[in-house]
Amino acid sequence: MKIAFIGDVHGRVLHTLGALAALQNHRGIRLDAAIQVGDLGAYPTPERMDAPSRRFAAENPSENDLFRLLDPSPRLADAVRGALEQLPPVHFVSGNHEDFDWLAGLHEETGSGVVAVDPLGAFRHVACGQQIVLAGQRIAFLGKIEEPGHMDLDEDARASLLAAEPGSVDILITHDGPFGMCRNWRGELEGSPKLAGLIEHLRPRLHVSGHYHHENGPRHYGRTDSYALAELVYPKTNRRRPERANPEQRVAEGSIGLLDTDTGTFEYVHDDWLADVCGDDLDLSRFVTSS
Ligand SMILES: [Fe+2]
Repeated sequence: MKIAFIGDVHGRVLHTLGALAALQNHRGIRLDAAIQVGDLGAYPTPERMDAPSRRFAAENPSENDLFRLLDPSPRLADAVRGALEQLPPVHFVSGNHEDFDWLAGLHEETGSGVVAVDPLGAFRHVACGQQIVLAGQRIAFLGKIEEPGHMDLDEDARASLLAAEPGSVDILITHDGPFGMCRNWRGELEGSPKLAGLIEHLRPRLHVSGHYHHENGPRHYGRTDSYALAELVYPKTNRRRPERANPEQRVAEGSIGLLDTDTGTFEYVHDDWLADVCGDDLDLSRFVTSS
């Protein structure tokens, strides 16, 4: 079976569905599951966005695409329904730029650890600490970041995963990554010591994360192969890293990973066609083939 993993989306849900449809078309495959590693940008309204999200959305209009999906025009609803006839729904974990109260309320309303955030059911939030089976894989989810003084992982969720038997999880999905995985622009080591400990305990075959917005992996922790994904679409301008400027809003190489569960192989998608999934106003129907 095939599972696609998607890096930080920051509201660009139409690029997400377009890229997954293009992946299937170009590779001649069907995905059995799609998993997004957090920072979907899950806000119910623009007013609920945090300040950085609002600032980026002002310069990058497609960061508002989730709002279009929450109240779709008939044309967009048709395109999304068409996409979902061919694609699995996207399961996502919390990043550090989501409306946590809104997401918690959706879980409370439904009494479920997995809940659709949009009326068409394209994007489904998985609560921290959940373990679910997708494409035959036992998958555990732990979102948010460990940043003292700003945000922490959900302690109850982390404790529940630390109580699970080592080897009982095939794939661990987190937003933050294990401590020591990379350095920031000041040269300081980045990552979460708590997640490093969790990987050491759970010993999943595969760990996939996001947050740092660049491809990083594989790194090996015992029997675990760990991969961090690039941001799905880099912003139009980047003061610190001008080489990442992306005025055409193209999907980035290394922002999507593909796992073949039969062979256990994970690959970063670097194909040229990723750049065709682009624009401020992406027409999803362009990527949905009539079946
Ligand atoms: Fe992010």
